[in-house]
Amino acid sequence: MSSLLERELLFVTGKGGVGKTTLATALGLLAAERGLRTIVVELGDQGRLPALFGLPAPQAGVETLLGERLWSISIDPDQALLEWLQQLGGRVSGRMLASSGTFQYFAAAAPGAKELVSMVKIWELTQGERWQRRAGGYDLVVVDAPSTGHALGLLQSPQTFGAIARVGPIAGQSQRVRELLQDPGRSGFLAVALATDMAVTETLELQDGLRRGLGRTLDTVLLNGLLPSRFTAAELERMARLDGSEIGRSAATAARAAHDRARFQHNQLARLRRRRFEVLGVPFLFGAELDLTAVQRIAAHLRRRL
Ligand SMILES: Nc1ncnc2c1ncn2[C@@H]1O[C@H](COP(=O)(O)OP(=O)(O)OP(=O)(O)O)[C@@H](O)[C@H]1O
Ligand SMILES: [Mg+2]
Repeated sequence: MSSLLERELLFVTGKGGVGKTTLATALGLLAAERGLRTIVVELGDQGRLPALFGLPAPQAGVETLLGERLWSISIDPDQALLEWLQQLGGRVSGRMLASSGTFQYFAAAAPGAKELVSMVKIWELTQGERWQRRAGGYDLVVVDAPSTGHALGLLQSPQTFGAIARVGPIAGQSQRVRELLQDPGRSGFLAVALATDMAVTETLELQDGLRRGLGRTLDTVLLNGLLPSRFTAAELERMARLDGSEIGRSAATAARAAHDRARFQHNQLARLRRRRFEVLGVPFLFGAELDLTAVQRIAAHLRRRL
């Protein structure tokens, strides 16, 4: 497990709203604290990280320093494809691409192109020396990936798009992205799931996609939002007998409900472990909007386990 943060790329995915951004950020904080120069990549038009650190929203594609050794960048796949076509074409003006429908035509005709260009950008971030200005590079790139289906599309883009363009720069780039994604020493895949009865199905679906697309398996499942088991069975027994007052009865019922819920979640965790997944539980933080203190608390929780 200790090797997970030592890879070049960590890819965090899972269903919508399960805590991908929260956990990708927590991993970023943890890695930076360990002395690694780390960048968290947000994909699509989210761009939430700078705000979380009290900074103004930067433009897509701009690397922003969030804190000591920690950066973020937001990659917009449409924008990335447009830039790439411009670099490639030279003669084709950006205005023409944007206005004439050429871009839409190309994007539709070349499935996987946007995803591949985004993956190439991510790959570039993992390289010490890059085409553009910044020297130094990053030790770790954490991708706050889109939800499962889209994430698998991204991961499979070297195959999808590379198959169309076997020669030229695209072929070379596809190959480099694929090498990074297929090498367990260089990249890692983390699934985020909530402890519902869908957790196992969702995780297996992701695992299948990874296996088929890349010959890889999930490194870790982060089971998010776990409730604490506050009471022992004996305490619950005693509470159940406190039926002298209405308040006593309500408190006992509430305690029992919380206990059952925590136990249910624990069973989901055990089911995942029986499937031989490496599972890390992440506690539910009461009253936590996604603020920096909450993410720091989650990072502190992961610190002992990663
Ligand atoms: N451990 C936790 N305890 C309490 N609240 C949490 C926890 N993890 C995430 N949340 C909250 O759940 C909500 C969804 O989290 P987050 O935005 O990280 O999910 P996501 O998977 O990135 O969502 P999306 O698919 O929309 O990108 C947020 O309001 C966040 O603050
Ligand atoms: Mg998110």
